[in-house]
Amino acid sequence: MRSTDTNLDTHLAQAGTSPDAETGALAPPLHRATTFERAPDGSYPNDYVYARQGTPTVRRLETTLAELEGGPACAAFASGMAAAHAALQGLPFGGHVILPDDVYYGVRELLDTVLDEHLHYDAVDLTDLDALDAALRPETALVWAETPSNPLLKITDLAAVADLAHEAGARLLVDGTWTTPVLQRPFEYGADLVLHSVTKYLSGHSDVLGGALLPRTDDEHFERVRSFQQTAGPVMDPAAAWLALRGLRTLGVRLKRQCENARRVARFLAEHERVERVCYPGLPEHDDHAIAERQMSDFGGMLSLLVKGGEDAAMSVAARAEVFTRATSLGGTESLIEHRASIEAPPTATPDHLLRLSMGLEDADDLIEDLRQALSD
Ligand SMILES: Cc1ncc(COP(=O)(O)O)c(C=O)c1O
Repeated sequence: MRSTDTNLDTHLAQAGTSPDAETGALAPPLHRATTFERAPDGSYPNDYVYARQGTPTVRRLETTLAELEGGPACAAFASGMAAAHAALQGLPFGGHVILPDDVYYGVRELLDTVLDEHLHYDAVDLTDLDALDAALRPETALVWAETPSNPLLKITDLAAVADLAHEAGARLLVDGTWTTPVLQRPFEYGADLVLHSVTKYLSGHSDVLGGALLPRTDDEHFERVRSFQQTAGPVMDPAAAWLALRGLRTLGVRLKRQCENARRVARFLAEHERVERVCYPGLPEHDDHAIAERQMSDFGGMLSLLVKGGEDAAMSVAARAEVFTRATSLGGTESLIEHRASIEAPPTATPDHLLRLSMGLEDADDLIEDLRQALSD
């Protein structure tokens, strides 16, 4: 477990490393083996059998993420969506799921297509606790939360939502992709499961696809998750785990810079005459700034802006960006700008004049100058 006498940054700087007993190497080894030797008596002395059931480098990442998140276990997957699939397929047949109304669109698509005969769902504004209360049913198995939400950056009061979900006999899953354990610790607010797209901040360099699911208790739902992971086989590749472990060691400093860049860009945009609204929980005028301040250690590196003049105006701002790159995804070293409605699967509730920004590690002055010129008439 994360030692209580070191700070998170210290822990992150050394995450997943321990000098190799044989060579003294500080960086962890990358084990690509798919099969492992049995002892003459037929046992597996090192616990490893075959790569679908676990490999040393992937297990090192799983252990490191469990320590960081403060949970007993972790299952790593080939992508964040594979982790989402694992969490949902472990629910009882005919179960009901509550999604936030602006959930990451891939989760809605997964329930509409791959899992449409297994589960049914309602989309609810999780900032409205009465609406959540009304939507909970006896067969509700899971409430899915994402806070800040994607792409409107609404803030969910995790402790209040956990209480309501638990009273109704449902689990709470928090997608922690945007926050990582550095900015928000969902288990401390009652979450039962935490999901990460490792593709984003945890790896941090736009060169790894991966996912992880962590339980608060290693219960029978998580046993089904593990069984799905090892039997269906959507496992993480060892090379991806190795890159994710390398990325984790700089997560603390990267996020500090990304939060600071987001704060400065949000303040600049909030004053700009061509911007209708900035969605960023770090701005005091954000509806749920107080909740964000209470449950997050900082406000994150993501923000959205609504451009006056509609979709064409938003598209032309994105088209003129030079320092920001037009691309989807988030959490890398480079800042991204994205017209979100046109990438989400229809039907989407995302306003067509919304641009989502993922802040990278560039100098904030350069990012602000780029937006100034892109927004000029
Ligand atoms: C909040 C969130 N959750 C889950 C995912 C899915 O992750 P992946 O692309 O690694 O499958 C994404 C991807 O953009 C995301 O933004």
